[in-house]
Amino acid sequence: MEIIIKKDAHEGSCAAARVIAGLVRRKPNAVIGLATGSTPLKLYNELIRLHKEEGIDFSEVTTFNLDEYIGLPAGHEQSYRRFMNENLFDHINIKTENTHVPDGMTADVSATCAAYEQAIVDAGGIDLQVLGIGSDGHVGFNEPTSSFASRTRIKTLTQQTVADNARFFDGDESKVPHHCITMGIGTIMDARMNIMLAFGANKAEAVADTVEGPVAAMMPASILQHHASAKVFIDEAAATDLKLADYYRWVYNGKPDWQKNA
Ligand code: F6R
Repeated sequence: MEIIIKKDAHEGSCAAARVIAGLVRRKPNAVIGLATGSTPLKLYNELIRLHKEEGIDFSEVTTFNLDEYIGLPAGHEQSYRRFMNENLFDHINIKTENTHVPDGMTADVSATCAAYEQAIVDAGGIDLQVLGIGSDGHVGFNEPTSSFASRTRIKTLTQQTVADNARFFDGDESKVPHHCITMGIGTIMDARMNIMLAFGANKAEAVADTVEGPVAAMMPASILQHHASAKVFIDEAAATDLKLADYYRWVYNGKPDWQKNA
């Protein structure tokens, strides 16, 4: 795992965006996995800027989002399809038909999940997956004790995640759906590269457990220790519980630019 500690969320997001831009320049038809939530917003703003000001071309890019709430239609203000349209897709030159978000309104969840997995395979697999992390260590909506072998499927959110996400639903936990469709941990681990972003003191414990703790299903993100190409972009606040923070800074600062952005 490569740990990249930046001063704040803006710098961390810009560093992550440079990695994505580098991929799209090298491979214009890249397949990119995307996340929602508050964490990737600055990353998406930077990708929009790179598209508008530096001509990064998304016209041949394909995307797959990690997850979607079950029971929220695409137009619902908290659906992840709407989030992606409003915060990224509507502002870059990606083709709508190349963007994929699980269908939270499907009548056949199992068939929809199997088709989502197949669509990823048909696209050639995910080159780079963007991840956030829940305060309980979830990635996608793979809550603690999720199988490391899991594929796209229905999951039940923990009460903590429901409470965490109530901020998007007028602070009302009763409005937060309890079920979602999420890529599995096995799906995420199949991506050729994973980049995780985590900002703020409320993520510090989960980040430390992910990076330096034991690999355990109780801390789903810790499986990234087994990924051959995983980068973790964090700010100083999220780095406070890391024992080897100085070492990670020393490693990163010693790298040539081409390696930092690879
Ligand atoms: C969202 C997702 C989740 C979030 C996590 C952190 O697509 O997969 O794992 O990344 O819940 O959410 P924020 O960024 O809102 O703290």
